[in-house]
Amino acid sequence: MHNANSSSDDQLHGHCRHIRDYGIFDENIFLIGFMGTGKTTVSEYLKTLLGMDVVEMDEAIARQEGLGIPDIFAIRGEDYFRNAETCLLKQMQNRKGFVVSCGGGVPMRDENVREMKKSGRIILLTAAPETIFERVRDSHDRPLLENNKTPEYIETLMEKRRPKYEAAADLIIHTDHKSIPDICDEIIDGILSMNSGSDLHR
Ligand code: S3P
Repeated sequence: MHNANSSSDDQLHGHCRHIRDYGIFDENIFLIGFMGTGKTTVSEYLKTLLGMDVVEMDEAIARQEGLGIPDIFAIRGEDYFRNAETCLLKQMQNRKGFVVSCGGGVPMRDENVREMKKSGRIILLTAAPETIFERVRDSHDRPLLENNKTPEYIETLMEKRRPKYEAAADLIIHTDHKSIPDICDEIIDGILSMNSGSDLHR
């Protein structure tokens, strides 16, 4: 992904008016995908662009628990963290017009996917294992990768997860070599075309 350019910005501002006309703010946008696929960055751009609020799930859970993600895994265990994710998604049923940046493991539970589908559209972001490796290599906040930071391990885990990711997705966006505005443009176009003629104005 690279930086914004003004023609994409112009295009998106056009979309923005379109989106307001169609009332897309009435639903949530769930961004799913493997760690390091750009969910947080894309959600922040959508926030600025569309004026939607963002829920960054990891951040919300860390705040609620008063612990960082690695400490939640180490002290309370992964199951506890997964239950906190499900609980947070259930709370989203009462909230509309949010961009939700999901933790990479969220679509592994069918229950989570059902919850997301009740209140919005699910957008899958993908990237090559090498791209992801470069993005995560210097960070220490992802317990599942902490002792496994190689492109090979990333590819293996990603392939294992791929069927669930793809089954959950309403729309799949490949992000390699695309700018953030272009990715957001694809998301908005995708949602608009899904909604035209659909019954989603719920
Ligand atoms: C996880 C992804 C992380 C975080 C936790 C587990 C996963 O979120 O929820 O470390 O199982 O893929 P990001 O995808 O935002 O890095």
